[in-house]
Amino acid sequence: MPHQNTIAVILAAGKGTRMHSDKPKVLQTVLGETMLGLVAGAAQAVAAQVLTVVGHGVEMVRKAHPELAEGFVLQEKQLGTGHALQVAWDRVRASGASHCLVLNGDTPLVTPEVVEDLLQTCRAGADLAFLTAVLPDAGAFGRVLRGPDGEVLGIVEAKDYDPATHGPDTCEVNTGLFCLNVAAMENFLFSLTNANRAGELYITDLVGFAVEAGLSVHALRRDDSSGLLGVNSPLELADAEERLRSDIVSRLLASGCLIHQRASVVVGPRAEVEPGAEITGPCRILGASRIARGAKVGAFCQLTDAVLEPGAEVREFSHLESATLQAGATAGPYARLRPGALLMEDARVGNFVEMKKSVLGKGAKASHLTYLGDASIGAGANIGAGTITCNYDGVNKHKTDIGAGAFIGSNTALVAPVSVGANALVGAGSVITKSVPEGALGIARARQSNLPGRGKKP
Ligand code: UD1
Ligand code: CA
Repeated sequence: MPHQNTIAVILAAGKGTRMHSDKPKVLQTVLGETMLGLVAGAAQAVAAQVLTVVGHGVEMVRKAHPELAEGFVLQEKQLGTGHALQVAWDRVRASGASHCLVLNGDTPLVTPEVVEDLLQTCRAGADLAFLTAVLPDAGAFGRVLRGPDGEVLGIVEAKDYDPATHGPDTCEVNTGLFCLNVAAMENFLFSLTNANRAGELYITDLVGFAVEAGLSVHALRRDDSSGLLGVNSPLELADAEERLRSDIVSRLLASGCLIHQRASVVVGPRAEVEPGAEITGPCRILGASRIARGAKVGAFCQLTDAVLEPGAEVREFSHLESATLQAGATAGPYARLRPGALLMEDARVGNFVEMKKSVLGKGAKASHLTYLGDASIGAGANIGAGTITCNYDGVNKHKTDIGAGAFIGSNTALVAPVSVGANALVGAGSVITKSVPEGALGIARARQSNLPGRGKKP
């Protein structure tokens, strides 16, 4: 449960120059989720309120995350991480929260557990707590300075760090995750200056200020915190993504999922795969997909927000987006199920079948080469190869209704709005523009004539 008296501020206004992308850095994705979405998820699990400092590409950020927009604070000029927090401070104070967490928007691997840990450290009596990591190479990260007894003295940014002044590099770095006691820290926040190599207001200077004033500062060093460092380049993004991918796959294997070719299986952080589900790589299972026990996903598939109930199967090379397969239903190989496709129990879709906003009733089949859009197909119906629902007239979309047990002959065009009654038959090659009553045979094609002697000369 999120803590009522805690607010979180996500710093997400920067451009991310090193990404060489037109997108704001925090919209870069890891396993199909934006970095901002992942950070916000961790923040929301701990803090009752979440603010996001936005600036660069704000409209793109708003479009990608409308659910966070109420908590947006605009930082028009990116004058540094300390300035970003200053800009949000009125709302922090107005929230009445006693503690304020600060997260960098470019740390996609941050977890609720680690954020909670830091909050508890701060609540246990620190005025300021922050999380550190020890790296083999401290690179461009802010260095943590400690005194002879291990007490924290401050943080020095990489650009300003000089071993002659600051002592030998211990490679202990600032992860960028802070927790502040709101009442204790606010005076310091507005004393920041930009007297440094970058000419920016650094949030990290708060540490030195607080230590000098005799406040209690706690640097929490966790062994597993190297994954919490910010992503600044395509290489770091790829590393973070691979690390999260392999953690998720390992966790699923440990829980009892059957996974083949584990190195090429991608499961997003919001997807749920139950023990006893079977997945073969390479494949990607993204978004809020749910794969139940006994369901199978074949190789070369991509599923986004898809639901597979127990015993459902998606065969090789299929693509599903916001589609549901009920128990025992199968799709593919080479099926394309777009948003709103629902295969009821034991229904089947075969190769080169596309479905959109359509329901295939219990046990119904569309085995080959078909487009079903805005269509409802009753239980046990059979849709022949090459059937097309012509659902779009260039302006509007129209519905096709096919009754239970109906049989649609191959190469039929159903010009919507149109319905075919239960147990009706439609002759192959028909262009159906008028509804076919229940139990009737509908046939709409030119009659065949055979002209004797008009064939090829022997
Ligand atoms: C920051 C820390 C550094 C730490 C590192 C960990 C500072 C000064 N440095 O460095 O000690 O080791 O993170 O990853 O804090 N942002 C704004 N507004 C601004 C500037 C930045 O919102 O004016 C946001 C960025 O969008 C980003 C986050 O703050 O999400 C961090 O900024 P970034 O420039 O990546 O900081 P680093 O140089 O990586
Ligand atoms: Ca960074």
